[in-house]
Amino acid sequence: MPTFETHTDANQHYQSGFANDFATEALPGALPIGRNSPQRAAYGLYAEQLSGTAFTAPRSHNRRSWLYRIRPGAVHKPFTRIPAEMLRAKLVANFADVPATPPNQLRWDPLPMPAAPTDFIDGWVTMAGNGAAESMTGCAIHLYAANRSMQDRFFYNSDGELLIVPQQGRLAIWTELGKVDVEPYEIAVIPRGVRFSVALPDGEARGYICENFGALLQLPDLGPIGSNGLANPRDFLTPNAAYEDREGRFELVTKLNGVLWRADIGHSPLDVVAWHGNYAPYKYDLRHFNTIGSISYDHPDPSIFLVLQSPSDTPGVDTIDFVIFPPRWLAAEDTFRPPWFHRNVASEFMGLVHGVYDAKAEGFVPGGASLHNCMSGHGPDAETFEKASNSDTTKPAKVDATMAFMFETRNLIKPTQFALETAQLQANYYECWQGLTKHFNPEQR
Ligand SMILES: [Fe+2]
Repeated sequence: MPTFETHTDANQHYQSGFANDFATEALPGALPIGRNSPQRAAYGLYAEQLSGTAFTAPRSHNRRSWLYRIRPGAVHKPFTRIPAEMLRAKLVANFADVPATPPNQLRWDPLPMPAAPTDFIDGWVTMAGNGAAESMTGCAIHLYAANRSMQDRFFYNSDGELLIVPQQGRLAIWTELGKVDVEPYEIAVIPRGVRFSVALPDGEARGYICENFGALLQLPDLGPIGSNGLANPRDFLTPNAAYEDREGRFELVTKLNGVLWRADIGHSPLDVVAWHGNYAPYKYDLRHFNTIGSISYDHPDPSIFLVLQSPSDTPGVDTIDFVIFPPRWLAAEDTFRPPWFHRNVASEFMGLVHGVYDAKAEGFVPGGASLHNCMSGHGPDAETFEKASNSDTTKPAKVDATMAFMFETRNLIKPTQFALETAQLQANYYECWQGLTKHFNPEQR
């Protein structure tokens, strides 16, 4: 059962399911029946296809939607590059260009709220990533901190889909395909190319973004788990059509290959009256995750906590795994119950939405982040190790009121120059393991 009270009405303006063939119209009869591109669309609308995969992708992976809108997406003035002096966002989209990646364990304090008025787009800073947007491989991991709603300003990302993990403050995301409201403990995924504007109902907002350059995020197969469990498809919510017919002096911003461009646009691009298809934004409440773990001994690999994956061309190896560590019961007997010490071939960027992560008693705080790259040794800190080594494991224990997560990737996660130089980087992170002293005694088993 969900542990926390939820504040958004899940059924208010959403359709349920993951990548279904959705159909929705804000005016009756706006959606053509039995065809996509009639000679004249109803209400004088324009028909436009938005493709998220190659036309010839296998049916099981083929994603596209048909939009019926007041004006086509082509109607705007030419884009010009936003001058560097006006640019507040610090973005990286090609990780060949970042400094050498240190083998150290890295951890950061939360990004401070901006001093100047900053909207959702201006408030991005790239912390790490791999691959490159231009070759559609890898990902970029950003933090955002914003204190102003986007005003007469619309954005679309040409570089990849955005997995947004709010940590503080709600986001009211009005997309071309409808309204997606998210709060901390929820996530939103905005597909590549979908135009949107973000308002901040709480005045301030902060969180994490995993920008996926590669294959679209999908639900993992469940194997022996069976037909239910982990993130269930019915809990994913995609908005119903919602449009505005508004004219004025507006700005359309896009990020292409890591560069922000702007264009004048004389109308709101949130003018899609009806749409159908399976390429659309969605949200998911992490509190609905069906967490599965051991009821005997040991605990499974953290792949058991997988919410969404971006698969690679190699079976079983993902480009991105989005993994959460939600509230759960620990029941394994005679077992070291926190996450064990480990060194992995995969690389792990962690964040914390709320509470305390069960491997770290201190130092990893909500809004903060850590990075443990390929073969970097890590695990519980000394305090956690001592406590867990001496706790009573004959009784179950609840890990409660927490929500940590991980963006895990098959490729090295390379921190940016900003991430390596920021004052938020904790110089003393390594100290949390220095108290792990020798217990070895060959005379005593
Ligand atoms: Fe780890």
